[in-house]
Amino acid sequence: MELLGPKDLASVVTVDEFEQMAQRRLSHMAYEYIAGGAGADITLVENRAAFNRIRLNPRILVDVSRIDTTLEIFGRKYPFPILLAPVGYHALAHRDAEIETVKGAKLSEATLVAASFSNVTFEAMAEGAARPLWFQLYIQTDREFTKDLVDRVIAAGCEAICVTVDVPVNGPRDRELRAGFSLPPGVKRANLAKLGNVLASAAHRPSGRNIYSATHGPDATWKDIEWLRSIVPIKLLLKGILHPADAQRAIAMGCDGVIVSNHGGRSLDTVPATIDALPLIAERIGGHIPLLLDGGVRRGIDVFKALARGATAVLIGRPYIYGLAVGGAQGIARVVEILRTELEMTMGLAGCTALSQISAEYLWQ
Ligand code: FNR
Repeated sequence: MELLGPKDLASVVTVDEFEQMAQRRLSHMAYEYIAGGAGADITLVENRAAFNRIRLNPRILVDVSRIDTTLEIFGRKYPFPILLAPVGYHALAHRDAEIETVKGAKLSEATLVAASFSNVTFEAMAEGAARPLWFQLYIQTDREFTKDLVDRVIAAGCEAICVTVDVPVNGPRDRELRAGFSLPPGVKRANLAKLGNVLASAAHRPSGRNIYSATHGPDATWKDIEWLRSIVPIKLLLKGILHPADAQRAIAMGCDGVIVSNHGGRSLDTVPATIDALPLIAERIGGHIPLLLDGGVRRGIDVFKALARGATAVLIGRPYIYGLAVGGAQGIARVVEILRTELEMTMGLAGCTALSQISAEYLWQ
């Protein structure tokens, strides 16, 4: 199917419509891989439901003729508080895979967190990137290889490393299994080429029962975070935190940031929505380090709610992949544009002109 052009993309009104349009373009198994959660999709659904339960409490008669969504993280200015989350295998959504995504990030002025499981190398992505990339790391069972990977991305200009810590073993991806998901022939896991083109999820095993994957670091512990801290001279974040005590431990170990995430509902089913896990974590680490959140962000209003509950910024996963499938780089840009515009509208209607003003005061409680 032809990708949508700029005119058609401009007429797409919401991020959710991109999902419906992407579903028509993707193969059944690719759609199930991308859209699905773990187990019975309880957490996947809850990530959205929890955002929708929150009510806002706007203030009136504030001069909102100028609204500024810029923020600073790690000494760099971001025009809006939305990053592109690490998502594996963009070749499922677009022929040019992450190369096209990088173009989309450039058009959107967004920062991409490149995944370990990408179909093109980090170096190739960095070459086309307008803003420095971040990198998502799975601690590999082969720690020497892990160090090589870290050294490689740093040499290629990576600005921050996000270590994903919430998938030590494969989650039960029922929908993937039923759809018989596998990567299309010829698609490579470029960053992990040394390890061959073996896939990580249980769905890719003949029996569907092997829960272990050496590429997900099943043996990783806090000792490895200590080790990584000693070898990573750039910013280091942990992605996949739900417990305040883990957030605190991450800071104590010298991590520069924390990402509250449940892997988009793809790992341990029935954990709470990230937006509900956020307040206790924000309370515990309040303001010390950037606190990011992902999971279920589909509206500018959701970004506002996340910031009101203590997040510094959010990441989106599936939405930009749907944009990529529907309109390539331009599709990603349209998804980001919708969210940015909705965020500005929400701020204006709530009576906030800067991100720093967004607080729990604007939540109905
Ligand atoms: C992911 N996510 C993910 N996270 C990660 O740390 N490494 C990875 O390789 C992947 N791969 C991946 C593939 C697909 C298809 C999806 C949908 C997600 C999780 C991702 O970074 C993020 O946490 C969630 O996608 C956020 O939730 P939403 O925005 O998709 O609801």
